[in-house]
Amino acid sequence: MRLSQVVTALLLLSIVTTAYTLWRGDTVQDINARWEVSGHADETSSAFTHWDDDDPPVVPAACARCHSQPGFIDYIRADVIRDHPVGSVISCNACHNTALDGVTNAFFPSGVEVTGLGSEVSCMQCHQGRNSTVSVERAISPDNERLPLDDVHEGLGFINVHYNIAGASLMGSVTMGAYQYPDRDYVGQFEHAAYVQTCTDCHDAHTLHVDARACAPCHLNVVDRGDIVDIRMTPGGLTDGGIRGEIDVMAEALYRAIQDYTVEVMDTHVVYAPDTFPYFFIDLDEDGEVSPGEAAFPNRLQTWTPRLLRAAYNLNFVYRDPGIHVHNARYALQFLYDSTEDLSEVVPVDMTGMMRP
Ligand code: HEC
Ligand code: HEC
Ligand code: HEC
Ligand code: HEC
Ligand code: HEC
Repeated sequence: MRLSQVVTALLLLSIVTTAYTLWRGDTVQDINARWEVSGHADETSSAFTHWDDDDPPVVPAACARCHSQPGFIDYIRADVIRDHPVGSVISCNACHNTALDGVTNAFFPSGVEVTGLGSEVSCMQCHQGRNSTVSVERAISPDNERLPLDDVHEGLGFINVHYNIAGASLMGSVTMGAYQYPDRDYVGQFEHAAYVQTCTDCHDAHTLHVDARACAPCHLNVVDRGDIVDIRMTPGGLTDGGIRGEIDVMAEALYRAIQDYTVEVMDTHVVYAPDTFPYFFIDLDEDGEVSPGEAAFPNRLQTWTPRLLRAAYNLNFVYRDPGIHVHNARYALQFLYDSTEDLSEVVPVDMTGMMRP
């Protein structure tokens, strides 16, 4: 072979490889670098280290389906549910494996099965919470009979929906993730707009980041990520103050109503500390705020009435999905409104200006 032929061959080869890479999209190395910065790769997160000091150090069966990669694959295969050693994160094989081939459904904590899922099928298995209307209702209606709403019951304790529950928000009344009051209608899945319907439409499957530029064509106020909280659709399609702000106002009103309710009904002052499990504590100095020392497990609220439990469950739900204003704002406003109104049957709540969407 002559030198010029070798050069031509090499040139052709490099053109073909470049073209192939461009056509093929990102290389595995690129994707790996993107995944590395995501929460799924964060081996120091409490979502992956919570069980490290247990004896033995295993992720229990009940937790492993979302907190352990092999546990997740077991769950999808639906053959064995068992404990798994600590130390895994959610890496490539969790979402790219034969167990998920052909899987298009997810069972939610309410027992409801969601079908017809596409590339968001893995997300829906884990970001769905662990409780729902069904489990709250079961707690306040043992033996299928509703306990008196304003009596303290020893058997009741706080119910936490769990963390980063975007799937439960997005599906709304389809999967009943929030506590839905009887005889009230709730919106179902947030039918947003084309190309922004599923988890992976908005979140990069590897970095998990949302590219705010994808919102700009329809939400004219959005230039970068910080503008997302200001999104509001008025009937005319224009933006006018953020719907996040409305959710915050409603959540604040519910919180104050909860505080008035516990004083009125139980002669107990409570505070909500969103970052400290189990979130509702006794307000020892009765100043209405979380003061030093109050947010401690031994000081947790241990007296619960059914009416308080369902309102507290819903207030906490909003905090457990930091993106609820995008995932299903109307669902949030509906259940916050209903909880506040329910408490207003017992304590005075100024609901002027509040509207149930
Ligand atoms: C096997 C369970 C599982 C699956 C499948 C899963 N997640 Fe997660 N996700 C988690 C856990 C656990 C965390 C918390 C990680 C942490 O704290 O570092 C998390 C964190 C996140 C976060 C927070 C972002 C961050 O960087 O902290 C986002 C956003 C997210 N996941 C989106 C998704 C999307 C989108 C999908 C589907 C493509 C998905 N997840 C699939 C369990 C899962
Ligand atoms: C249906 C899926 C699922 C199950 C089952 C599950 N978790 Fe989680 N859990 C998650 C997701 C998703 C997160 C991610 C939160 C985040 O991004 O920080 C999480 C977060 C956590 C965290 C970190 C909370 C924080 O404040 O950062 C702890 C601790 C935790 N879970 C404990 C448990 C325990 C204990 C069990 C079993 C009894 C369990 N989980 C079962 C999905 C699940
Ligand atoms: C939480 C689930 C999840 C994890 C973890 C994950 N992927 Fe993906 N991956 C997806 C989804 C979903 C798609 C399809 C993307 C879409 O349709 O938007 C995808 C697409 C891909 C593609 C096709 C090219 C592309 O960019 O669309 C490759 C290659 C890939 N992933 C490799 C990897 C590698 C390598 C890792 C580990 C470093 C990894 N993935 C981790 C969910 C995941
Ligand atoms: C319409 C676009 C859109 C869809 C669809 C969507 N998300 Fe989000 N999500 C967002 C935005 C925007 C945020 C807030 C991000 C920010 O500003 O930090 C967010 C926040 C989150 C968070 C909290 C992230 C954090 O850093 O705490 C998680 C977890 C999450 N989404 C997971 C999901 C999952 C799982 C699905 C599917 C069930 C989904 N999202 C569907 C746009 C979307
Ligand atoms: C193709 C157009 C389109 C794109 C792109 C789009 N949206 Fe929307 N968005 C809409 C429409 C239409 C509504 C009103 C839907 C309804 O109320 O049923 C809406 C409603 C919303 C709402 C609720 C506002 C309210 O007042 O009810 C939020 C929050 C939101 N979008 C966030 C986002 C984010 C974040 C992105 C980018 C990741 C995005 N949207 C991309 C069209 C779009």
